[in-house]
Amino acid sequence: MFSKGFAAHLCVLVLGHCTNAMPTKRHLDAVNNRPIIGILTQEVMDDVMKPFGKTYIPDSYVKYIESAGSRVVPIRLTLTTTEYEKIFKSINGLLLIGGSADLETSDFARVTRVFYRLALQANDEGDHFPIWGTCMGLQLLTALAAGECLLTKTPAENIALPLNLTANVPSSRMFQGFPSELMNALSKEPLTGNFHHFGITTKTFAENEKLRNFYTILSTNVAENGARFVSTMEGKRYPFYGVQWHPEVNRFQWKPNLNYPHSSNAVRVSSLLAEFFVNEGRRSFHSYATPEEEASSLIYNYVPVNTQNFTGYEQIYFF
Ligand SMILES: *[C@@H]1O[C@H](CO)[C@@H](O)[C@H](O)[C@H]1NC(C)=O
Ligand SMILES: *[C@@H]1O[C@H](CO)[C@@H](O)[C@H](O)[C@H]1NC(C)=O
Repeated sequence: MFSKGFAAHLCVLVLGHCTNAMPTKRHLDAVNNRPIIGILTQEVMDDVMKPFGKTYIPDSYVKYIESAGSRVVPIRLTLTTTEYEKIFKSINGLLLIGGSADLETSDFARVTRVFYRLALQANDEGDHFPIWGTCMGLQLLTALAAGECLLTKTPAENIALPLNLTANVPSSRMFQGFPSELMNALSKEPLTGNFHHFGITTKTFAENEKLRNFYTILSTNVAENGARFVSTMEGKRYPFYGVQWHPEVNRFQWKPNLNYPHSSNAVRVSSLLAEFFVNEGRRSFHSYATPEEEASSLIYNYVPVNTQNFTGYEQIYFF
């Protein structure tokens, strides 16, 4: 679906007892300053990557989350639903990365559906659980909200673009903490890196009632074929967020032949969005049952591989 290489708690409860209980009034004001975000791995498709593992996470996404003050837990695609339920109760948010996978039949889609169902239920019960989808992650979020895959061709391959911000931005959650001069830059300077062939057109979005009722469009862009696509969106009722572009590349990917925005404003956009999402995670009080379980789950148990010579990424974690 994308070109090679992209395709692109703690318990602040005073007693120190870590529960996954329903939120109490205390939770409404309390903040979890030791958040842990889960990142779903992707299946390895590229032959050059196959010797290293069956699934992977580019290090840029890990650094992106860590940069905002969160730890990372990689989530494999081979576990049982019961095991995913346990992980869900242990982490404070989920990041769906870009890549290439079938939005209906892949393991990536299957595992995302498990977390998605749990997140809907948790949020309905007042147990805040954010999900962020980047590129294919956004596409998957739209498929889950609509109950069907709604992708059409919206090629924007290796091009940095300014966002065409919608009138919904001033009342959005995502951009609330952005200074006005940065919003101005975001709408005029090419600060968002695009690496996709497919997407959700604004026409598809407008025609799909489920999608329209679920998400608010915060920005659009025009693809190489003239199609206008949804480039940024946020959930109306749920803390679910999607970007068709790649905020992590602004700070953590460096291939000279790729249009990664590295300007000072591009870096600020990337930093503020990472901070926004991790702050959403700080509102979640899920936690691992024991410190040992937490320690053995964290990304620190893995060492990324230098993949500069054979992928679009500098470093990749393989599992
Ligand atoms: C931005 O999007 C609106 C529709 O939402 C459109 O009318 C306008 O022409 C677009 N602006 C640019 C610069 O593409
Ligand atoms: C990358 O390629 C260069 C030039 O071919 C080589 O010298 C270097 O050892 C390679 N690095 C890795 C990590 O494979």
